[in-house]
Amino acid sequence: MRNVYNFSAGPAVLPEPVLQEAADEMLDYKGSGMSVMEISHRSSLFQSIIDETEQDLRILMNIPDDYVVLFLQGGTSLQFSMIPMNFMRNGKADYILTGYWAKKAYEEAKRYGQINIAASSEGDNFSYIPDCSDLEIDQDSDYVYMCENNTIYGTKFHCCPNSHGKVLVNDISSSFLSEPMNVSDYGMLFGGVQKNLAPAGLVIAIMHKDLIFDTVLPNTPTMLQYKIHADKKSLYNTPPTYNIYMVGKVIKWIHSLGGLEKMKELNERKAAVLYDYLDSSSLFYGLANAGSRSLMNVTFRTKSDAVDAEFIKQAEKHGIVSIKGHRAIGGMRASLYNAMPIEGVQHLVDFMREFENSGDYHAK
Ligand SMILES: Cc1ncc(COP(=O)(O)O)c(C=O)c1O
Repeated sequence: MRNVYNFSAGPAVLPEPVLQEAADEMLDYKGSGMSVMEISHRSSLFQSIIDETEQDLRILMNIPDDYVVLFLQGGTSLQFSMIPMNFMRNGKADYILTGYWAKKAYEEAKRYGQINIAASSEGDNFSYIPDCSDLEIDQDSDYVYMCENNTIYGTKFHCCPNSHGKVLVNDISSSFLSEPMNVSDYGMLFGGVQKNLAPAGLVIAIMHKDLIFDTVLPNTPTMLQYKIHADKKSLYNTPPTYNIYMVGKVIKWIHSLGGLEKMKELNERKAAVLYDYLDSSSLFYGLANAGSRSLMNVTFRTKSDAVDAEFIKQAEKHGIVSIKGHRAIGGMRASLYNAMPIEGVQHLVDFMREFENSGDYHAK
């Protein structure tokens, strides 16, 4: 039991039993006399780690056999370039703008082709997910891009956009393994692991094998070609071995709790504790439209920046850390990833109530 609840948006809280297990194995992994950090990525010991991690992920997410799983580097942000570089065969794509990260991906893709904005909620400071049931997609579009969970604004798609048969590419960084999803609704799912899965430094991409093309944009660097990573089974160069090991451990932890259905149930229960309080509070209010709320990142504030700052300061003294909102939106953000226990959310809400009742903050 640690003495703070960490609400960071990422790198973020990891399951305590996983950290403990990793600590126990730190000096001697399975009798090898070495730490996983010290083992060659070409060794049979590491090969079993990466194989088992992929296999366990396939079972957990029910990934069909015609999808490949890639362990990549460069952060989620590098995918913003790799996606257009690898998929834009007609030089056209459609992007749905629902937040900071989707917009960054859009800005990057513009370097490579003609990008249409299929839908956007930017006009309302990304506070909601636009209606995507009948998007106007260019007939020649190579793919439709979305970001499922908007880490900064606290919104989430609750149904799959209608891409009119075009390949859907989905950044799932901040909702990865938080609930079940139907992998075959998408051509590609990808996400950084630093929120729900492992320490920062690894991206997992799950893509249909038909998207692994031979021909890509001319002069695409070798490291930026999905085909190379698929052909070499994520071992073209030295992968972030320790992160892959940690992902494997977190997946086993999720399996042990009952899988993604169970994760969803727990995440819904946790988020409800905070949203219910926000809906009843006369000091704090939620920033995302009710129908678009994220289970993972809850954004809220008071009517005053000074009160927000005071709340953040006092919260820290009560063991509530990394609750400050992103600078793009201000206020507060509580990230309730899989490893955040419900007790942590209850502790936060108890403190919010105490803060609300403690002084005349309404007047500030
Ligand atoms: C949804 C989403 N996409 C992309 C990113 C960027 O990730 P990275 O820093 O790994 O490039 C983030 C980071 O918080 C994110 O939340």
